[in-house]
Amino acid sequence: MAALFMTLEGVDGAGKSSHLAWLEDWFKQRGHRVRMTREPGGTPIGERLRELVLHEPMHAETEALIMFAARREHIEQVIRPALAAGEVVISDRFTDASFAYQCGGRGLPEERLAVLESWVHADLNPDLTLLFDLPTEIAAQRLATARAPDRFEREQSDFHARVRAAYLRRAERYPQRIRVIDGSRSLEQVRLQLAAVLANSLERLA
Ligand code: TYD
Repeated sequence: MAALFMTLEGVDGAGKSSHLAWLEDWFKQRGHRVRMTREPGGTPIGERLRELVLHEPMHAETEALIMFAARREHIEQVIRPALAAGEVVISDRFTDASFAYQCGGRGLPEERLAVLESWVHADLNPDLTLLFDLPTEIAAQRLATARAPDRFEREQSDFHARVRAAYLRRAERYPQRIRVIDGSRSLEQVRLQLAAVLANSLERLA
């Protein structure tokens, strides 16, 4: 069975978490072994870095460096070994999130992140990225009911609007890899979109 590296992205409140278990099942039912993981995090060191970066105030560059430090460990310990074993790796966020949040949201220059990207994973990129997109106002309404919001969830709506715009620019730039899912629809409708995109993309990647 062919290995596949898939990532899930989107602004906070876009609803990707509601579909994690469904996506895992979708692949398992088709005979794949699936490794579910997340960023920042996915390893013991990564999870400790996650705690720091989600809750401690820090410089935007420190934030970007921590994201990539956690990612370096994640790639080494989880992503590469799983892909080498022929598994489907589904990561809840990856480097597109750094470009969207640290560049779009925080305003760091993209060239700076491109250096980190080529340092940490020049030769590894997702095969497929599902970008859960929805208007920032709807995302904000969903977040309003979130328990204990983290540093990113507490940001103002213009921050989230910049993150969304940066994600959409990347989707335009990489149309083969990044598939946009309309996250404003009902759970059932989102699942229909996901099933269609997966069937179509896996045929292309097979
Ligand atoms: P998220 O994946 O939304 O988890 P939860 O659903 O538990 O809140 O939280 C991770 C946060 O980290 C999210 O707000 C985006 C942010 N983030 C970055 O800013 N840059 C990155 O490179 C990554 C991976 C995440």
